[in-house]
Amino acid sequence: MHAVGIVAAAGSGSRLGADRPKALVPLAGRPLVRWAVDGLLAGGVTEVVVTIPAAHRAEFEAVLPAGVLVVEGGATRTASVRAGLAAADPAATAVLVHDAARPLTPPDVVARVLTALAAGAPAVVPVLPVVDTTVLVGEDGVIAEAVPRAPLRRVQTPQGFDLQTLVRAYAALPDGAELTDDAAVVRAAGVPVITVPGDERSAKVTVSHDLTLAELAVTLDGPSGTVAR
Ligand code: C5P
Repeated sequence: MHAVGIVAAAGSGSRLGADRPKALVPLAGRPLVRWAVDGLLAGGVTEVVVTIPAAHRAEFEAVLPAGVLVVEGGATRTASVRAGLAAADPAATAVLVHDAARPLTPPDVVARVLTALAAGAPAVVPVLPVVDTTVLVGEDGVIAEAVPRAPLRRVQTPQGFDLQTLVRAYAALPDGAELTDDAAVVRAAGVPVITVPGDERSAKVTVSHDLTLAELAVTLDGPSGTVAR
């Protein structure tokens, strides 16, 4: 399957408090964006587009493997993915949209998403169960109601799509609409989204504690299940 990967890496990472864009922050000596790109390639994606903050092109190009296309992202993740999609090879059959902020995503997860697409699913997301008690809290800070957690899932990336399905869904999305993931974009266009098992190692790096945990994971386990280095 000819699958193109889009890595959203244009965020500032202000919640991480780093001195550079989050995607350039090193994990075990390797920038987060490089981990994410290598994981996609190891899982079966054949080419990659990375969306970056415009002011940092040279730093990104210096750390990415040859052949990776670098394009300027936008002010929101939705705008960034739109830019990546516009640069993707239209001859590809499938597209996997991934967050640079999920550096340790095992290639097995990428392969599961690709397998489901190859079997005919138009849209596929990796998910994990919710293990905590989950509640709705009112503006007064008081619990309004408990939410049954059994059917709840946490949605991860990479999210896979038939390329033309995602292109059409973004084209139908009003300018300025901002959604937190791409499954929401195709669902807005009426496309069913199937789920495959995600992986705790795909955890998103948002605050500095997440980076500490990722460093520990690489130190203790090695990049096992991720890319052999
Ligand atoms: O901010 P958050 O962690 O949800 O961002 C998820 C991913 O989207 C990150 O990898 C980030 O770099 C990317 N992003 C982007 N363009 C933006 C904002 C976020 O590519 N304007």
